[in-house]
Amino acid sequence: MDHMARIEALMADMTLAEKLGQLTMTAAGSTVTGPVIAGDSSDAIRAGTIGSLLNLFDARQAHELQRLAVEESRLGIPLLLGFDVIHGHRTLFPVPLAEAALFDPEAWALTARASAIEAAADGIAMAFAPMLDVARDPRWGRSAEGPGEDPWLGAQIARAKVLGIQGSDLSHPQSLAAVAKHYVAYGPVTAGREYASVDISERSVLEVHLPPFAAAVAAGVAAIMPAFTDLNGIPMTAHVGLLRDVLRGQYHFDGVIVSDYNAIAELMRHGVAANLAEAATLALKAGVDIDMMANAYRLGLPQALDAGAVTMAEIDQAVRRVLLLKLRLGLFEQPYRRGARADSAAARAARRQLARGIGARAIVLLKNEHAALPLPDSIATLAVVGPLADAPSEMGGPWSLAGTPDTHVSVLAGLRAALPGTQLLYAPGVDIQSQQTGGIAQALALCAQAQAVILCLGEAAAMSGEAASRAHLDLPGQQRAFAEALIERARQMGRPLIAVLFSGRPLAVPWLVEQADAVLAAWFLGSEAGNAIADVLCGLVSPSGRTPVTWPRSSGQIPIFFGQRPGGRPLQASDHYTSRYLDESNAPLFAFGHGLSYGRFTLSNLRVTPLRVQLADTIEVRIDVANVGARTAQETVFLFTHDPLASVARPLLELRGFGRIELQPGETGTVTQYVPASQLRFLGQDLEPVFEPGEVEILVGPCADRAQLLRQSIQLQVEVDDAGTGR
Ligand code: NOJ
Repeated sequence: MDHMARIEALMADMTLAEKLGQLTMTAAGSTVTGPVIAGDSSDAIRAGTIGSLLNLFDARQAHELQRLAVEESRLGIPLLLGFDVIHGHRTLFPVPLAEAALFDPEAWALTARASAIEAAADGIAMAFAPMLDVARDPRWGRSAEGPGEDPWLGAQIARAKVLGIQGSDLSHPQSLAAVAKHYVAYGPVTAGREYASVDISERSVLEVHLPPFAAAVAAGVAAIMPAFTDLNGIPMTAHVGLLRDVLRGQYHFDGVIVSDYNAIAELMRHGVAANLAEAATLALKAGVDIDMMANAYRLGLPQALDAGAVTMAEIDQAVRRVLLLKLRLGLFEQPYRRGARADSAAARAARRQLARGIGARAIVLLKNEHAALPLPDSIATLAVVGPLADAPSEMGGPWSLAGTPDTHVSVLAGLRAALPGTQLLYAPGVDIQSQQTGGIAQALALCAQAQAVILCLGEAAAMSGEAASRAHLDLPGQQRAFAEALIERARQMGRPLIAVLFSGRPLAVPWLVEQADAVLAAWFLGSEAGNAIADVLCGLVSPSGRTPVTWPRSSGQIPIFFGQRPGGRPLQASDHYTSRYLDESNAPLFAFGHGLSYGRFTLSNLRVTPLRVQLADTIEVRIDVANVGARTAQETVFLFTHDPLASVARPLLELRGFGRIELQPGETGTVTQYVPASQLRFLGQDLEPVFEPGEVEILVGPCADRAQLLRQSIQLQVEVDDAGTGR
């Protein structure tokens, strides 16, 4: 029987309660990721009134609950198990924002694949990932979970992650259904405050926030999760325009829409539903198929049906989608296929190796002066200090639900393994967050004995991720006072000081960047963090990560991003009446794309063909890259465009591509990139795509700092057809 026939046969036999069961997802209780805690679901599973679970990551328990569904419920419909597989599962990889710094779609797909394999081994069939919210406000803790500030980059990550999580065949025992989230425009929450309202233009939704989701749908994503937030007054969980019209209508998304945690009930808190029945009605009518944790469909839809607020056909449509997903996942054929095979030690070790390699490549070397890095091989004594120097459990990052924190590698442990002949002197100095300063003197004293100082500081892992907004983007607790005292002491003693900065967001620490000899952004790199960091510090790996967000120098600059429009009075130093702050520079601390390596690169000879471009053309962009440094290293080259004169003011830079090249000292190579001219269309005044004739600048270089970009103008030409209309 084909899928559709099987679904119809089942549906003909289902009671309303069983149908609503298929639309209900509840927590199984291995871990807690939200406010409503569910009790034991066994009876409901037997009764067929719960069709999906979340928060269980134990194959044995998963199979036991699956057995209740398959063998003891009337219709034997298998359960669907979902989980937050955000940056790894058992093995933790760098947080998504850190992984974005690789600018490497293959790597993005690899970690997603590895995570899916581990989660599938725990009986899980759905990953609540990838998170695709473009975020330009680092106060928002969830920036750590997403692709950074740029929509085009977000779209590349979306494609790679969906491919990695789902594999080429959803029914494969190691494939999971991906859930692209949080649809859409969760990133611009007011003032960066978690769960706050969102009020932005339709253009911004279309140009900035939707493209990653469009890419996920084009890549065949199985499911979508609407954001908790409202958009201009309409909660996304009930957004007919964006869910039904755009997602289902324009993008032809026919997969499952699964609500966020308790989000349907929260429609009452938003102030758009008076009771659970109304909330359920709004969500169902917008196209939400699965109710996660609100019990709104189970309890509210029968009432709504009686009142004529929803139709049976609307409920059936959602049930069909859920059953189809279960069929596509192969759950009907082999309900126990995920979690059937134990993971081998060799496979686990290989994933740790992957985590180490990806971790090292996610590190962004923000500054390196006085040849502070890499550390000399011969170093006899090294001080490793700071509250994050020996903090294995912090290394995993914010979504480490199934991780084993005691197996995470701290910086101290990583350096110990990498430098067996070096004496390491450790002192935490201060805590991450407390106001205590009693340990500072002991840490300062180590400077006298050591040849160099590694200072590990930053945020706790729990300070980013969900429900983790910060108003202040500096170091918490007494870390700044400690760092400044240590830097001063190191300077007096003539010791190089290398700061390793842990965070789920760019921290506004210009003072640190000014005073330390070297600064590394180490984000949260996962299980192998310490080894990855040691690999970079010791020069085994030349750093190659590039910041996927514009790095602010103070929180007052936020939102700060390279894709701003020029405005009518762009900054001019000599003119008071131009766009500026009285008390802060406009310039970021680091431009998007910034990141040093142990090589040194020069870019030259930008070549663009053709120079006269029509809509159907593909533009070839080539640039020569020379490593004029003393070590082999990788360089990433970014390709931007700018349309200087158009019917709608265009951003100063728009990202269109990136390319990487590894070069030995003295070697020169060429990076070639292709841009379909159709990408140079934009939304006109009526928000419809237009391809306007005239000049477009192609800008290529190492980051989004205009001063460092080579540029070449091209002319867009519009063919005029026989009817005299341009295209
Ligand atoms: C709420 C979060 O917003 C979402 O990202 C996550 O998948 C669910 N909780 C489930 O834990």
